[in-house]
Amino acid sequence: MEFAKKVLCIGAGYVGGPTMAVIASKCPEVKVVVADINAKRIADWQTDNLPIYEPGLEAVVKTAIGRNLFFTTDVSSAIAEADIIFVSVNTPTKTFGIGAGKASDLQYWEKTARQIRECSHSDKIVVEKSTLPVRTAEAMERILNANAEHVHFDVLSNPEFLAEGTAIQDLLNPDRVLIGGPETARGRAAVEDVVSLYAHWVPRERILTTNVWSSELSKLTANAFLAQRISSINSIAALCEETGANVEEVAHAIGMDKRIGPKFLHASIGFGGSCFQKDILNLVYLCEHFGLPDVAAYWEQVVSMNAHQRTRFVSNMIAKMFNTIVGKRIALFGFAFKADTGDTRETPALYVARELIEERAHVVVTDPKALDNARRDLADLPQDLITYEPDPYKAAEGAHAVAIMTEWKLYKELDYSRIYASMEKPAFLFDGRNILDVDALYDIGFSVYPIGRPGKSRL
Ligand code: UDX
Ligand code: ADP
Repeated sequence: MEFAKKVLCIGAGYVGGPTMAVIASKCPEVKVVVADINAKRIADWQTDNLPIYEPGLEAVVKTAIGRNLFFTTDVSSAIAEADIIFVSVNTPTKTFGIGAGKASDLQYWEKTARQIRECSHSDKIVVEKSTLPVRTAEAMERILNANAEHVHFDVLSNPEFLAEGTAIQDLLNPDRVLIGGPETARGRAAVEDVVSLYAHWVPRERILTTNVWSSELSKLTANAFLAQRISSINSIAALCEETGANVEEVAHAIGMDKRIGPKFLHASIGFGGSCFQKDILNLVYLCEHFGLPDVAAYWEQVVSMNAHQRTRFVSNMIAKMFNTIVGKRIALFGFAFKADTGDTRETPALYVARELIEERAHVVVTDPKALDNARRDLADLPQDLITYEPDPYKAAEGAHAVAIMTEWKLYKELDYSRIYASMEKPAFLFDGRNILDVDALYDIGFSVYPIGRPGKSRL
């Protein structure tokens, strides 16, 4: 079949996979190829057992796979035939050298840029999809257009705003799509080409076009603002616990102010995920680089507050459990960084598990979707102190405490009387997500400690 346009996405991960599946399903006349160097990932995308868990994803993939959606490990051939190339490779925080712990590690991204240059024999539009430091598109443009005599590359930025667990809904019905491009005739034409893809299903007024740097910076800023709300409410949660105020009542009261709004005000054990911390640290690094240390310190505090919240949670557990947890069995309900995903990148549960094991507790990890990732994340710790258990009832058997790490719906619906009966006494319940009914659990016999709300102790 002849396709009107050929789109390639390099990187078949949490961003590339779902985004391309939606583009393919909405644009049947466009050929969409997703390429990745990870052969297992590519093979899994073509089975019923997709490499990532995302509600609704399987159905979208099924509408297009084999029709106009294809997966391949042959990145070079896919580059050669593409008109538009989305780059969605991983850009983790650097763990070495200059900017370690803050700047993005751009090695995968740069390799990709060079490969695109080598394999291209016709003009291409290259679209940044990975979250990258501001001005990366400019660097990409320089790499691509160096030595390119006959081929021209237009580099655009099209940041992704999908949240895991709701990725398909976010893609189908986005608040906005942002496309940044050079303010030249060529650049504007390239932007229009990408706009025309999204315009298949997104109303025009929700497709924003800006210059490249505004687009790149908007992504970092959106995530910094969202994360800041969580750190702000978590800081107030700490004060609520000291004063007897209830953080949910406070969040509700302030959220009714239209200028503040009700969303992203759930106090929790802290934010996780691949984006928030990484993007803020990117912003911090950028501010330092441009000689703005006070601005950098302002944003860095959002990340420090998040780390403080996790540590405070563990300290509270230890204090309540008579100041020692050595040899005590503690069941962590949930390991994913949020519900409806198997992703565990930067999950607060990982930090909690590590701190508990350092205190020589025995940690039992349970999660409906994230146990494989948990095993990998905790592989460096003494395995005799960790049990992985898919069944939450079994995970709680003989435990001194249960701690809710992820707000899976499943954990709201468990039979807590049965759980209480199988636990050591006194039985403790630490609700790191504020999803359980404190009074009902107390009546069963638990001592219950939520976040930022009065707990109920039987001791
Ligand atoms: C985020 C942004 O929402 C998305 O727009 C961007 O493209 C990628 O980063 P994601 O990391 O998938 O998405 O999840 P999100 O729903 O934002 O949650 C992030 C973390 O904050 C989770 O650990 C979540 O549990 C936590 N959170 C969220 C809270 O603790 N309280 C809240 O009120 C909201
Ligand atoms: P994200 O959450 O940004 O989508 P992931 O880690 O889930 O990040 O996905 C990034 C994908 O990019 C991985 O599957 C990885 O194998 C792939 N990748 C990294 N470098 C390259 C490369 N040079 N060519 C093709 N794919 C790559």
